[in-house]
Amino acid sequence: MPDRDEARALTGTLTSETLETLRDLGRIADARGVGAFVVGGVVRDAILERTCEDLDVVVEDDAIEFAEAAARELGGHVKRYDRFGTAILLLKHGVKVDVATSRSELYSRPGALPDVAPDPIEMDLRRRDFTLNAMAVRINRDGFGELLDPTAGREDLAAGVLRVIHKRSFEDDPTRVLRCIRFSARFSFTLDPLTEALLRSAVERDLVSTVSGERIMNEIRLILSEDEDWSPLNQLDSLGALASIHSNWRLPENGARLFSKLQTILENPLGSMGSATPWRARFLLAVSALPPCDTRALLDRLRSGTALRNIVDGLARFDVEARELLESESEIPRSDIHDALAAFHSETLAVVLASSGPVLSERITLYLSELDGVRPILSGADLVALGLEEGTVLGQTLADLQRARLDGIVTSEAEEREFVRKAIRDLDVENKR
Ligand code: CTP
Repeated sequence: MPDRDEARALTGTLTSETLETLRDLGRIADARGVGAFVVGGVVRDAILERTCEDLDVVVEDDAIEFAEAAARELGGHVKRYDRFGTAILLLKHGVKVDVATSRSELYSRPGALPDVAPDPIEMDLRRRDFTLNAMAVRINRDGFGELLDPTAGREDLAAGVLRVIHKRSFEDDPTRVLRCIRFSARFSFTLDPLTEALLRSAVERDLVSTVSGERIMNEIRLILSEDEDWSPLNQLDSLGALASIHSNWRLPENGARLFSKLQTILENPLGSMGSATPWRARFLLAVSALPPCDTRALLDRLRSGTALRNIVDGLARFDVEARELLESESEIPRSDIHDALAAFHSETLAVVLASSGPVLSERITLYLSELDGVRPILSGADLVALGLEEGTVLGQTLADLQRARLDGIVTSEAEEREFVRKAIRDLDVENKR
C-alpha cells in the first residue's frame, strides 16, 4: 500500500474541473453521511498519467437518490437505470459522472447478468475484473485523495502485469476474456500465469458463447476502436475466442499485412474516405475471409446494426458487381469507374483498397481523389427552365450530364446547356417518329 501522501498525489493528475466536481460530490456524500469514491479506470489512468474520459463514482448509498440529490444541489439532470440501480449524472457545466451503489455481485451462471446487493467499498472492489481496475480514491472531505487498493493493483500496474482478482472472474463474466486481451494490448502488459491459465480454460470451456451478442459486439467495437494493431484480434483467434463467437470465424491469413495497409489508408484518407469509421473498416477486414452466409450468421449473433450490415454486404456485392470491370486491363471511361464505385461505403472501399492489385488500386484512388462528388453545374430546376418536364427523363438527362462531365465531354456551364439542348432536340426527333 502506498503511503497516504503518495496516494493523495493521485488526485493531482486530474483536471481542476474534475477535481472540483469530485469535491462537490464528496461534500454531498458527507451531508448524507455516506462514503464516496472515484473508482476503476479513472484511478488506474491517473496513476499511469493517462487521460480518462469516464468518471465512475461509487457511493455507499442508493446511487439514484445520491445522483438526484447532487443534480438538485449542483444543477444538472439524472438518467436513471432502475434495473441496475445506477445513474448517470449530467452536471450543468458538462461533466458526466456514472454513479453506482457500492455492491457485491452474485452470478447465477456464466454470462448471466448478476444479482447485486449493497456492500461496503472493499467488497465492491474485490468483485471487479482485474487488480488494476480495482482501486478507489476516497472523495469524502475527511480522507480526500486516499487510495484504497485491497488487491495490490498498484503493484501490478508498476510491474506491467494484468491479473484477475479471483479464480471465478472469467466465469462470472466471460466478456472479461475480451477485456483481458484489450487491456493487455492497450498497456502492453503481460498476463500473470494463473490469469493466463484461467483465460485459456474459460475459452476452452466455450464460456464466451454464453454472452449476449450486444455485449460481445460492444467489446469488439472497443477493441477495434482503440488498438491500431492486429495483435488483439490475432490473440483472440489463436485462443479460440473468435470461434466461440461464431464457429467459422477465422481471420484472413495475411491479416496483419492487410491490417497495416488498411491503417495507412485510414490515416491518410483520400476524399470521402475521411468519413470512414475506422472500427467498422477493421471489423470488415476481420470478417472478410468468411463466406457471406457465415458473415450474416455472425452479424445476427452479434445483433449488429444496419450500418455495419450494409458495409459488410457491400464487400460481397463488390465482388459480384464491380471487381471484374475494375480489375480489367482494358481502358474504361471515368464515368464507368465512378458509377461502379459510387454505391459503396467508404469502409468497404478502404478494405478493398487494402487488398487490391495495382489496376484496381489506381481506379479506386482516381475515384476518391477526382471523381467522387463531381456534379453538373446545372440543377434540375435549370433543366426545367430549358424545357424539360420533371420526371424520369429529367433524371436520366441529369445522370447523362454528370457522366459527360466526368468524361470531360462538357467542362463549362455553356457546354452543359448545349448538351441539354441537344438532348431535348434528340428527344423531340424521337417523339415525332
Ligand atoms: N468492470 C468489471 N468487469 C467488467 C466490466 C467492468 O469488473 N466486465 C469494472 C472494472 O473495475 C472497470 C469498471 O468496472 O474499471 C468500469 O468499467 P469500464 O468503464 O468498462 O472500464 P474502464 O476501466 O473505465 O476502462 P476503459 O478505459 O476501457 O473505459
